Amino acid sequence: MPPFSIRRCTVNDAATMASLGARLFTETYGPTHPEPELSRYLARSFSVDVVREAIAEEGVTMLLVEDLHGSAIAYAYLRSSAEPPSGVGGDRVFEIVRFYVDGAAQGRGVGAALMNECFNHAKNRGADMLWLQVWKEAPWAVGFYERMGFSVVGSAPFYFGDRIGDDHIMSKSL
Ligand SMILES: CC(C)(COP(=O)(O)OP(=O)(O)OC[C@H]1O[C@@H](n2cnc3c(N)ncnc32)[C@H](O)[C@@H]1OP(=O)(O)O)[C@@H](O)C(=O)NCCC(=O)NCCS
Repeated sequence: MPPFSIRRCTVNDAATMASLGARLFTETYGPTHPEPELSRYLARSFSVDVVREAIAEEGVTMLLVEDLHGSAIAYAYLRSSAEPPSGVGGDRVFEIVRFYVDGAAQGRGVGAALMNECFNHAKNRGADMLWLQVWKEAPWAVGFYERMGFSVVGSAPFYFGDRIGDDHIMSKSL
């Protein structure tokens, strides 16, 4: 029996996904992206209504990882990408908008399993290319994506209040 399971979310999971998303963003980026903007960013990005609308959107898939007790420990947010950024090739392209594993569950293969599920899901929907945006100053994430087969193809800004961060655009052919 695996120590975790992965399933696709429905709108009934909106509250769980909203609190998981806010918790893992804060855990990962709270130390470098402080208040007062942090609370504003969380409210804009992870209110239950915003998350419910995203889950219901055409072309969106949210995958939730739960441990054996049913606790939410990781998630991925995928969507079809009609206008990917320059440098990203492919005819039918999907974006990984968010990808987070709880700190207590990292280093046990959860991220790799979740990413493989993203690959399968995108391929089943006819995708030939996946892309994502990641902070250049998050080497743990950039290294993980490289190990999963992504490579840097460009860069893009990340807006956090008045601050403009420098992100990599990474892509992987499926
Ligand atoms: C980046 C991230 C998604 C990786 O997830 P993860 O679950 O830790 O990834 P994995 O466990 O699959 O792989 C990580 C490491 O654990 C190792 N590992 C995999 N399975 C393992 C197992 N069963 N036992 C021990 N180690 C294992 C992998 O080999 C890898 O090691 P390496 O870094 O030395 O190559 C995770 O660190 C994360 O969510 N970080 C914070 C959020 C974040 O930055 N998200 C990206 C935003 S753009």
